Parts: sequence; structure tokens; C-alpha cells
Amino acid sequence: MVPAHVPAGRVVDFDIFSPPGVERDYFAAWQRLAESETGPNHGLVWTTANGGHWIATRGAVVRALWTDAERLSNACLAVTPGLGEVMQFIPLQQDGAEHKACRGAVMKGLASRHVMAMEPQVTAAARELTATLRPRGACEFVADFAEILPLNVFLTMIAVPLEDRPRLRRLGAQLTRPDGTMTVEQLKQAADDYLWPFIAQRLEQPGDDLFSRILAEPIDGRAWTVDEARRMCRNLLFGGLDTVAAMIGMVALHLARHPEDQERLRAEPELIPAAADELMRRYPTVGVSRNAVADVAIDGVVIRAGDLVYLPSVLHNLDPASFGQPERVDFSRGLSPMRHSTLGAGAHRCVGAGLARMEIIVFLREWLAAMPRFALAPDRPVTMKGGNVGACTELPLVWAA
Ligand code: HEM
Repeated sequence: MVPAHVPAGRVVDFDIFSPPGVERDYFAAWQRLAESETGPNHGLVWTTANGGHWIATRGAVVRALWTDAERLSNACLAVTPGLGEVMQFIPLQQDGAEHKACRGAVMKGLASRHVMAMEPQVTAAARELTATLRPRGACEFVADFAEILPLNVFLTMIAVPLEDRPRLRRLGAQLTRPDGTMTVEQLKQAADDYLWPFIAQRLEQPGDDLFSRILAEPIDGRAWTVDEARRMCRNLLFGGLDTVAAMIGMVALHLARHPEDQERLRAEPELIPAAADELMRRYPTVGVSRNAVADVAIDGVVIRAGDLVYLPSVLHNLDPASFGQPERVDFSRGLSPMRHSTLGAGAHRCVGAGLARMEIIVFLREWLAAMPRFALAPDRPVTMKGGNVGACTELPLVWAA
């Protein structure tokens, strides 16, 4: 049922988990919503799908709501039923002072000097993967590379020894490409069971890994509780795997479609950091949920306290009113990454932003250095999925072996 305060002209039927046509093109599927009959006149529509909620469809509205942490709460992640109650992520599902304190500790642990210190290990992981793939002449990039690198990075971050890593592979795949065999509750349990021995050890005997560092940072002058440590570790695991895998997949897709950009970055590797920033702007696939805790008047309507709002980063970054020729990839755009929404905006902006950027840069550098010109496989389609993190589900690539 559509609530009385929602004008009839704002109502659509749009399932954020499977926008029409998403399996072929995530970006086009979302852009069709912004360009649909309801879209052009409005920056905010109400979808009847998934229990009914608002969706911001124009860049300025996406951005304004994303930065309104006072009136829009992060506590429930409610557009995905069950997710918020089960996961209880820290700091993602916190608000106000509580959020600030925990986020501060995580931010210190992930400070850029610590992230930089991890770069040699990430480089080694990327080199090992490319060396294995190179002689094959083909790969399914999502499973063979995109999903593996961020998992290795996470395990490095919490200092899990190499020989223990295969245990997390299946879990990692379920996180990035759930096949329906595990419920959200089972996924959370499997992650907790796996992570707990490492968390317990880091709490008792901190090492010099990133995770120990975060736990060594006091929250408002006190130590992390066991429950908080678990919830935070879960947040880093669930927040830093499929997001990075999705981004690496989109970057590889772009390069496969644009051999001229491959050549340019091979010839001028010093452009790679700027290219990483621009490709992250161009291919945003994260959307977030908010619960209104006060009325918000915006775009000619009122979001009532209690309403759910969905904010897709794609409809900010690809709105021509927000970025000139937004679909064009221009390595010299020179925009601050704070201007786009790929990594969020405001109080909850991604704490892993520096780490994510380093992973994308390392991927670009190592892949382009190790591989000859690569292209999409002519006989197998690229497939994509929607959801809170959209992504390529299959990205078959070929090159001369
Ligand atoms: C390209 C890769 C990534 C993308 C696109 C991405 C995207 C985002 C976005 C959009 C948010 C904002 C959520 C909101 O406003 O509700 C966010 C928050 C967060 N991200 Fe990332 N992320 C990425 C990588 C990572 C990595 C590598 C980590 C782990 C180290 C991470 C951990 C987190 C955490 C813990 C939060 C919650 C921050 C808070 O609530 O204060 N992310 N991310």
C-alpha cells in the first residue's frame, strides 16, 4: 500500500535487487529509472517493491540525503529484510556519538601509513594471481581474480596465515555471489565462527596487523568489548570484500572494452592513480538504505519519520547535472574523490576508502604490467547483478597466451 503522504505521480514499481535489464547492464538499468516517465521531473520516487520505500533518483537529492545523518538513521539497513538485525555492523549501523567514537578508532587503524605498509603484500598477492593466469590465455575474471584479491587483503589485514586461507574461500564467494544456499543468519554465523579465534587472539595479544591496531584504539577512553570487536570485524569483512571485487570487475570490464585506455596506462603508468579515481567515479555500484527519524521536506515532497529511503550512488555519479559528460572516462578530470558518491558521503563515508583505492591501483599496475592486451571473450556474455552492491557476475576475458 502506498502511504497517503506519497503523491500518486511519484509511485513506481522498481525492485532495487533486480532492476529490469540489470543482468546485461547495471548502470543502464538504474539510469532508466532516472529517465523514466516519473524520473525526469522528480528527484525522489516511491517504489511499491520490497515493502515500499523512497528512492532518490537525482544526483543532488542522493547527495543531500546521504549527508543528512541527523534525520536519516543508519541503524536498520532495512531495505534488505533481516540484514540489519542479523549483522549489527559497527560502525555502519551506528548513529551519533556512538558511531563517531567507534568510527574514529577504525579510521585510526586504517590510517594511510598503515594501508601503505600493506601495499607490498597486496602487490605480491596480485602478482601471484596474474602469474598463474597469464599462460592460460583466458579467465573468468570475477572468480579467478576479482573475488580473490580483496579476500587476500582482508586476511592480510587480520594476519591470518596463508595456509588457513582456503577455509574462507567458500564464505568469500557466498559474500560476493550468494547462491541461495546460505541465509543471512548462516552467513553471519559462518563468518563469526571463522573469525572468532583470530579476534580473540588479537584482543589478548595484539600483533602489528591492522586489526590489532584498530582494537588497540580506545573507544571514548575504554577498550573494545568482545561483542563490539566481533561486530566491527564483521563489518570490515562484509564491507571490504564484495565492494572491492565489484569495483575491480568494473575496472577490468572498462579496460577490456577500451583497449586504448589499456595502452595508455601501460605506456604512462604514472596516470594509474588518477585513472583509479576516475574509474571509481564512473562505475559506482553501491546503494545504501536509511530510516527517516524525522520528517524531511525535499524535492517537493515530505519523507515522513519512519519511511525508508534508498540512495544509489550510480544516480549521483552518472547525473549530467552533477558531472559533465558523466559516462565519459577522462583520466584528467582531476576530481577529488570526495565529490562523488562511490564511497558514500558524510558521516558514514567509507572508512576503507584508502585501502580500496590502494587495491584498485595495485590491480591496475600489476595486471597491466603482466598481461598483454586483453578483450572480452567473443563467445560468452558479460553478466551482472543488482542489489546493495551491483557487480559483474561473469566477466570472461581472453588474451594471447
Ligand atoms: C571500492 C570498494 C568500496 C566501496 C565502493 C565502498 C563503499 C562504501 C560506501 C558507499 C559506504 C557508505 C555506507 C553508508 O553510507 O551507509 C561505505 C562504508 C563503509 N565501508 Fe566501504 N567501500 C569499499 C571498500 C571498503 C573496504 C576495503 C573496507 C574495509 C576495510 C570497507 C569498510 C567500510 C566500513 C566499515 C564502512 C562503514 C563506515 C561507517 O559507517 O562509518 N569498505 N563503503
